[in-house]
Amino acid sequence: MRPSWAITCSPYFGYPEAHENDAERAVRAGLALVDAVARLTIRLAPSLHVRVGIASGLVVAGGEGVDGAFRGPVAIGEAPDLATRLQSIAAPDVVMIAATTRDLVRGLFDYHKVERVPLEGSSEPVPAWQVVGTSAASRFEALREGNLTPLVGRGEELDLLQRRWQQIQSGEGRVVLISGEPGIGKSRLVRAFQDRLANHAVLSFYCAPSYQDSPLYPVIAQFGRAAGFRRDDTPEERLAKFEALLHPSVGNEAIALIAASLSISAEERYPLPSLSPQRRKQRTLEALIAQFAGLATERPVLAVFEDVHWIDPTSRELLDAVVDGVRNLPTLLLITYRPEFTAVWANHAQATTIVLNRLGNSQVTAIADHLTGKRLPREVRDQIIERSDGVPLFVAELVKTVLERGLLLDRDDQCLLHGPVSPLAIPSTLQGLLTAGLDRPGPGKEVAQIGAALGREFSYEVISKVADWLPEQRRRPDPSRLGGDASNGHDALGADGPLLYGGGLGPHRSRRRRLAGSRCSVGCSRGFRYALGRCGGAPLARQPSGATAIH
Ligand SMILES: Nc1ncnc2c1ncn2[C@@H]1O[C@H](COP(=O)(O)OP(=O)(O)OP(=O)(O)O)[C@@H](O)[C@H]1O
Ligand SMILES: [Mg+2]
Repeated sequence: MRPSWAITCSPYFGYPEAHENDAERAVRAGLALVDAVARLTIRLAPSLHVRVGIASGLVVAGGEGVDGAFRGPVAIGEAPDLATRLQSIAAPDVVMIAATTRDLVRGLFDYHKVERVPLEGSSEPVPAWQVVGTSAASRFEALREGNLTPLVGRGEELDLLQRRWQQIQSGEGRVVLISGEPGIGKSRLVRAFQDRLANHAVLSFYCAPSYQDSPLYPVIAQFGRAAGFRRDDTPEERLAKFEALLHPSVGNEAIALIAASLSISAEERYPLPSLSPQRRKQRTLEALIAQFAGLATERPVLAVFEDVHWIDPTSRELLDAVVDGVRNLPTLLLITYRPEFTAVWANHAQATTIVLNRLGNSQVTAIADHLTGKRLPREVRDQIIERSDGVPLFVAELVKTVLERGLLLDRDDQCLLHGPVSPLAIPSTLQGLLTAGLDRPGPGKEVAQIGAALGREFSYEVISKVADWLPEQRRRPDPSRLGGDASNGHDALGADGPLLYGGGLGPHRSRRRRLAGSRCSVGCSRGFRYALGRCGGAPLARQPSGATAIH
């Protein structure tokens, strides 16, 4: 029965600040909302329920009313409408997501597919998914593994890892630090190496953006995956699965402490010692190291800590201790991270660093050909080479866009073009990542947006004249964000440049050209509106990356 009254709210994820995992954050918020309402103890008749609808896509958004007063954000586009309609047909206490959101969160959650649902205003029923809860899959498995192509290149890196693996067999551990920008292939390299090994134990700890404040999340998730916990396990079943994982050398107190971290009820069999919070944390870390060392006495261990730029402080303490302890264990410890993270372990005697570089044109072509199963037409291949700039993730997503657009015709061993190729749009799966880079605090965003009107490379003199209202230091882009090299007097937009500004996230093409001609700039910031005012242009509304609406 429909309630006679209801309150609707519309939070936007991705506006005013984009994160690479906005869709995931929206779904997590929806699940948390359902959970929180279910726990409310206030008694009402009829009782309270919540319905959540989520959709993703580009919208035009802004936060100003007609008279310039702030009225809260407003987003216009298909996504907010679709989210509203999905919530209107969702069952009570259910999170429903549209295909656009499902494409972004993929295997991060478990779902019931709600076949196709009829929606008011749509002639055709639309596909929708009911989110059941978070899945146990790692980020790589959930988001990237669906369409794995054979590994291209990375032979030298694999050889180095293989040599380190040989070295640990004598009982002296090694650490390899693997650094590289998003999508460059850190996880893929680890996976390829892991697939080569036999007779070893693997412990994989995955840090994640949503769990940077959850103590020991990577460890808890690792135990959960190894134990094979299921949503409907009874407490006794969970305890039995947990006990089966523990090494016999680990004492009862250690078992009690680890069980408590995993929220497993084990107090009857393993009483918890009474300790101060600080002491308890310390002893829990020691317990985990003891479990780790116990496993390494049986077989060589490959321990992987992925994405430590997102590590929580307690896991960081554990990792520091593991790095120190590994030298006396037959263990190869692989640690992956993005370049913004400073790995203090790089100077350790047993540590080696691998920095993954972008792939060459022939390697990009090889990945693209694998994905299509045939040779791509030259025009398309050239665009993919130019836009992807050697980042395998960008290659994969751009090829997917080409295939989805139906541009290609199958002919014998190659693909032919259907018609003329226009510039490829930015795949929705990359929009969050790219705009999050631009939205990070610090100088550079305005210069990148102005630079979009000029081209991928532009001189400091030009940017200085065009953006003379910006203080001196803000006219120089942050090369770590944009991948540019300001040392030669030219600021380059880097890998994201051609994707962002050649494919639709930046200012509209024709407007860009017009503005480039009039030496003006466009965009959404105060500076851009100011610039537009100076050259008589109309202000533009902001286009955030894939804003996700919950209703
Ligand atoms: N050398 C390669 N050959 C073929 N495909 C690759 C290669 N490197 C990466 N890929 C593919 O590119 C995509 C991105 O790779 P991956 O997830 O390993 O990047 P990453 O560096 O771990 O990114 P992130 O920082 O977001 O975790 C994956 O689909 C992966 O299979
Ligand atoms: Mg990765």
